[in-house]
Amino acid sequence: MGRARRREILQGLSAFGGEMKRIAVLTSGGDGPGLNPCIRAVTRMAIHLGVEVVGVRRGYLGLINGEVVDLDRRAVSGIMGHGGTFLGTARCPEFLTEKGRREALRTLNRLDIDGLVVIGGNGSLTGALELHRMGFPVVGVPATIDNDINGTDIAIGVDTALNTILDAIDRIKDTASSHNRAFLIETMGRDCGYLALASGVAGGAELVLIPEVEITMEEVARVIGDTYVRGKAHCIIIVAEGWKPGTRALVDYLNSRHEELGFEIRLTVLGHIQRGGRPSAFDRLLATRLGAAAAEALIRGKSGVMVGWRHDRAVTTPLEEAVAFCKEINMELWKLALVMEK
Ligand code: F6P
Repeated sequence: MGRARRREILQGLSAFGGEMKRIAVLTSGGDGPGLNPCIRAVTRMAIHLGVEVVGVRRGYLGLINGEVVDLDRRAVSGIMGHGGTFLGTARCPEFLTEKGRREALRTLNRLDIDGLVVIGGNGSLTGALELHRMGFPVVGVPATIDNDINGTDIAIGVDTALNTILDAIDRIKDTASSHNRAFLIETMGRDCGYLALASGVAGGAELVLIPEVEITMEEVARVIGDTYVRGKAHCIIIVAEGWKPGTRALVDYLNSRHEELGFEIRLTVLGHIQRGGRPSAFDRLLATRLGAAAAEALIRGKSGVMVGWRHDRAVTTPLEEAVAFCKEINMELWKLALVMEK
């Protein structure tokens, strides 16, 4: 692309921007890889459009307490490759109350902030919707490793978390095969089995247990026994945190039938390892595109929307729709898992 064309595009981008002089950005709820690149993108796009930016520390809690920091281009340099969020985050029960939200509005007014970008999962985006309903301009960005938000094919953090789980599955397979053991590997996903299902398919697991599909403990025992009889050296079962009756109950049950199963049983709970780490290339790109698009949308005058990623581009969805219910699991992927597990 020629220099003149590049200048034209950049001028086009900065040709709008009217009312907004100063916006804020915050990360809220459970953290995940890619939050830093997203804060950076919001900041740099806003500054490019001539708008000042402040970062709110510790999510909605910082908004209630007025903990903010000025962000310039320099303040967000060198953070692309870092997991977590340099602004900090929190789960904030106070924000669920009318009083908490009014305090947050007071902070926004006192600091002359004209609009807010909220980066986070379902709870955080529900908070964003409440602020919008109170008349304050807000745009949301989906960021949660659970991948359970409507209006986006994928949320920030999912790709890195999946790669972390895959790394763990590969390592566990090594030791499982050496000892001829069956392993239950528990992934995060309180209400949604996406991480377990996707990592199970990509990691070649023998079985995946997710909250959306009912499978009894007897059926699990049968799969383990069959896998042993087929002569496999290991049996890997991925269990989503939200699967009922839960991994601990399953371990106890399987241990009580140990003689019939062939394999010894072991459990690995991956826990918060899944939420940390350097964001993948995919997450950095996604976070940059969504963060920039969110800042642009807010400055253009949009509010009450989430900027998500669909069919290879940034699209807006009303926050009401985005948080109305948990995104449904892809049953095609579930069926494929069944075929591949055999
Ligand atoms: O919502 C994202 C998530 O990672 C869930 O899958 C998990 O249940 C939860 O966060 C854990 O939250 P916390 O870090 O507050 O224990």
